[in-house]
Amino acid sequence: MAQYQRPDVPPMKDLTTENITDNVQAINSNCPDARLRFLLDRLVNHLHDFARETRLSITEWEATIKFLVDVGKISTDVRQEFVLLSDVLGLSLLVDAIDHPKLQNATEGTVLGPFHTTDAHHVAHGHQISNDADGEPLLAICTVKDTHGMPISHVAVDVWETDSKGFYDVQYADRGDKPDGRAIVESDENGVIFFNAIVPVPYPIPNDGPVGKLLEKLKRHCYRPSHMHFMLKKPGYDRLITALYLRGDPFETSDAVFGVKESLIVDLARVGSTEGLAEKYNVSPDTKLLTYDFILITEEEARQAREEAAQRVADKQGGKLKVVGGLLVPSDS
Ligand code: BEZ
Ligand code: FE
Repeated sequence: MAQYQRPDVPPMKDLTTENITDNVQAINSNCPDARLRFLLDRLVNHLHDFARETRLSITEWEATIKFLVDVGKISTDVRQEFVLLSDVLGLSLLVDAIDHPKLQNATEGTVLGPFHTTDAHHVAHGHQISNDADGEPLLAICTVKDTHGMPISHVAVDVWETDSKGFYDVQYADRGDKPDGRAIVESDENGVIFFNAIVPVPYPIPNDGPVGKLLEKLKRHCYRPSHMHFMLKKPGYDRLITALYLRGDPFETSDAVFGVKESLIVDLARVGSTEGLAEKYNVSPDTKLLTYDFILITEEEARQAREEAAQRVADKQGGKLKVVGGLLVPSDS
C-alpha cells in the first residue's frame, strides 16, 4: 500500500464506452518503466477499439477467455500451444520481421516454431542427424559468411527436422533424453558445415487442441511445407533463426504459419550430379543435396538496423515518440 501513488486522474465512476479508455490509460500512467507503460497504453487502446468496433458481446468474450484457458491447459514444456496460436495468427512472423529488419544481403529469419529444444548434441561434420531409416538420405553442405562475404568460423549451427512421418522427436512419448533429427554443427575456418540428414516432408502442426479447432472453424488447413530449421549463433553476431523450404512443395504458398520466404526456398540437387562429390562426402550418388550460403549480420549491424527502423516510426508520429535502446517510448518519458 505504501508504494501506491494514485495518478492525477478524475474520480472513476459511471464510465462509458467512450471515456473508459482514457481512464484506464490514466490509471496505468504511473508505471515507472517507460516501455511497459507505452506497451500497456497501446494494448489497452487497441483492445478497447476492437471491442467497440465489433460490439463484442459478453458471450463472445467469455468464449474467448475459455479458449485462452484451454490453450493454457494443454500447454506443457513440449506442447507450446500459445506459440502455435501466435504462429497461426501471423504474429510470430510479424514480430520476428520487426525485430530483425531485413539488412542488405543478410539471410532472412522465419518462425522458430514450438519444436526447438536445448538438448541437441554437438556433432562432427558428416554426422547423420536422423535415425529414421525410412527417410530419404540428404547431404547438406552450407557456408556461413558475413555481409562482406568473409567466412565466419565457430558458428554453432543448430539444425532440427521431423522424421519421414512428419513428427519431431519431442512428439513421441518415449523420446526420453535422446534427441533425434536434431544436432549442432560448428562451422570450420572456411565457414563450412556439412551433415547428413533426411529430405524434409510436409507435416501438420499439432491440431488436436484448441488451435486446431480454431483452424477447422476458419476452414484453414494445418500443414507446413517441407523445411529444415536452422539457428545460427556466435558471440558478436545477431542470432539467426531461420528455415530452408523445398521448392515445389504442395504447401509452399499456403503455410499454416506464414513462414515461407522466397529467399529461403531451395532446390535440392542429386549428389551424383557433381563429379567427385559422392566420393568426397562418402555418400551414395543418389543422395539428395542441399546447399545454402547463410549470411549473418553483426550485433552492431542489427542494433543499427533496429534503431533506424524504430526511428522511422517515431518520425511518422511527429515528436510523440523517441527511440531508447532500439525501442519506442513516449518522448516525455
Ligand atoms: C515448425 O516448423 O516446427 C512449426 C512452426 C510453427 C508451428 C508449428 C510447427
Ligand atoms: Fe518445423
